[in-house]
Amino acid sequence: MMDFSGSLAAVEAGAAYVAGGVNSGFRTGARPNPLVFTSASGCKLVDADGNVLIDYFLGMGPMLLGHSPKEVVDAARRQLDVSLLVAGQTQLEYDAARLITEMVPSAELVRFSSSGAEAVQVAFRTARAATNRWKIIKFEGHYHGWFDNVYWSVAPDPTIAGDALHPIPVAGTQGQETGENLVVLPWNNIAVIEEQLKNGDIAGIIMEPIMFNSGGILPLPGYLEQVRELCTKYGTVLIFDEVITGFRVSVGGAQGALGVTPDLTILGKALANGFAVAAIAGKKEFMDLVGSGKVMHGGTYNTQSVSMAATVATLELIKTGKPHATIASTGSALMEGLAKEFTNADVMHEIVGYPTVFNVRFDLHGPTDYRSGIKANRERYANFAFELLKSGIRILPRGTWFLSTAHESIDIDKTLSAVRDVLKAGI
Ligand SMILES: Cc1ncc(COP(=O)(O)O)c(C=O)c1O
Repeated sequence: MMDFSGSLAAVEAGAAYVAGGVNSGFRTGARPNPLVFTSASGCKLVDADGNVLIDYFLGMGPMLLGHSPKEVVDAARRQLDVSLLVAGQTQLEYDAARLITEMVPSAELVRFSSSGAEAVQVAFRTARAATNRWKIIKFEGHYHGWFDNVYWSVAPDPTIAGDALHPIPVAGTQGQETGENLVVLPWNNIAVIEEQLKNGDIAGIIMEPIMFNSGGILPLPGYLEQVRELCTKYGTVLIFDEVITGFRVSVGGAQGALGVTPDLTILGKALANGFAVAAIAGKKEFMDLVGSGKVMHGGTYNTQSVSMAATVATLELIKTGKPHATIASTGSALMEGLAKEFTNADVMHEIVGYPTVFNVRFDLHGPTDYRSGIKANRERYANFAFELLKSGIRILPRGTWFLSTAHESIDIDKTLSAVRDVLKAGI
């Protein structure tokens, strides 16, 4: 069993300088304590205790090509000697944007930001400017960044969130401004959307086209198509937040895999394999509002040269289709192996998603939205994740598994063997 006391000591010492010892609220409260890493390479992390962990966090999703893939690192390293930040354009950003338009169905034009949360803000402004309306619909359990106007009802307590069909928006943090222009709805229910759109005051609808932030839930057959039709009918801008699914679920993201094209798309994470790059991409008629300057979008670090070099290198690799083909085989083997281990151990389970990103839950089948999804046995799953961590396998306690091209068969076998041992000991 691995020991994490070196990490604990470093976090406690670091807390003299860093508030809470961590630099994201989502890193607080990790079991047994937040970890401190000394290096990362391929699919492995090394922590302050010298533990080598097989990593399925992958930086919360970005590292589709694994930690520090040679092609991306080489491109970034070369760019370090050329330019860092020019407060102007480089050819790299045009190349990166062109690659996005070649892969993502809705992407006719692109703008880059440094984080997904920022890119979401551009989408909201654009939707409002395009429609001259103010309200945005978001769904319970979906996460679109931590900013005041959208960090609502991401993980609400259902006992205070009211009626399931007409939820009361629940703030995600103290100190948050009102979400007066936000309408929160249950996902995968077409009737509640139409009821809202009929009022004629909805500028945009934002959703994770596959819900990965609160348990993996796929859109019901026909749901995305119907939302698309309704948005077109009522003149509402459809925004897919593909920060997790983009370039991961398929080369063309969830929209490529599921065949429904939104008006605007938010991209991040796998877009730059670990560099701080996000983007909003979309149809020309909407992106022209940004291009003309009618909708303001700024940022000192937008298209920072090294990040753009990494983005081009990442996208060129993804575009070949080879990373997805590789993970199709290792990821499927992992999904099948996990199902077998759970079945053998009599653990009721459900695995939902794709070889590149999937979700595992215990003791529940077939949830369709946030409220039904949280009936899964999340405590049991978190215990399972903790036991696996002690065996050298780092998985998200919430159920998501991210795969990379760096996970080889031997890593999958080691993972399954650790799963077997943990299940045998009982969870
Ligand atoms: C679906 C989704 N949207 C937006 C964001 C915010 O992106 P960032 O953390 O880059 O601001 C995230 C982050 O996890 C996400 O999962």
